[in-house]
Amino acid sequence: MNKPLAEKTAVVTGASHGLGRATAEHLAGLGATVILLARREAPLRAAAAAIENAGGSAFVLPCDLAIPAQVAAAAQRVQAEFGAVHILVNNAGIPAPRSFAETAFDDWDAVIGSNLSGVFYLTRALWEALIAADGASVITISGTAGLRGGGSPAYGASKFGLSGLHYAIAQAGKAHTIRATILYPGGMDTGWRGAPIGVLPRGESMDPAVVAEMIGQILTAPLEFVVNEAVLNPIQQPFM
Ligand SMILES: NC(=O)c1ccc[n+]([C@@H]2O[C@H](COP(=O)([O-])OP(=O)(O)OC[C@H]3O[C@@H](n4cnc5c(N)ncnc54)[C@H](OP(=O)(O)O)[C@@H]3O)[C@@H](O)[C@H]2O)c1
Repeated sequence: MNKPLAEKTAVVTGASHGLGRATAEHLAGLGATVILLARREAPLRAAAAAIENAGGSAFVLPCDLAIPAQVAAAAQRVQAEFGAVHILVNNAGIPAPRSFAETAFDDWDAVIGSNLSGVFYLTRALWEALIAADGASVITISGTAGLRGGGSPAYGASKFGLSGLHYAIAQAGKAHTIRATILYPGGMDTGWRGAPIGVLPRGESMDPAVVAEMIGQILTAPLEFVVNEAVLNPIQQPFM
């Protein structure tokens, strides 16, 4: 198999489950050394074992993105171990209570912390390592809630916030040939909010492995252009 990401180092957040795990497996298949980040170590080790059994290379990095000191320590480990980071996929995210009335202060802080602040902390902490890669890519996973909001105030606000952060990353990255992409996926078949996996038809809920392939295509696109933003929806899901 062609290995277009051989010699590349890819940090994938939320790599123990769902889209993050599918992305980590796909990028490892394309030859990247993947650094798997999430809070819980055991599921990360399981993901790393699957990648290594398939012939890939993985490094486990437990870290809570909502805690700045943990992010700083994780970034230092990455820099000490690998130096440059060629790919950063900001994928980790948590859901939030659906309605305004149900959303407590703690829910707000937890969701903004993981879904928005964590993306800033990690991208900022890895910035020098991304610059060192001389042609890095930063892909941030939002969701269609980041375009149209919706019922959940904390989740919608975290994803809208990512758009502003993404534009800032893109602007700052231009001087260092860092390509920044924001993806707005609709429903994916990952068990999000406890939904059963494998029940909905593919036209209503996307296979995370297929979304991961799209991420791989963006990362391996010719270097003279950048995919700034993209909306990916299952064909039957109404958009807007
Ligand atoms: N699934 C959908 O239908 C859908 C639709 C649109 C957008 N999205 C977005 O797509 C992304 C991936 O969703 P998914 O469905 O694949 O989610 P998922 O299956 O629930 O996986 C979430 C991953 O993020 C990690 N994580 C959560 N909070 C973290 C934190 N504070 N620090 C570090 N890691 C953390 C989790 O591991 P630990 O719990 O061990 O930390 C897990 O690996 C999210 O940003 C989500 O908002 C999903």
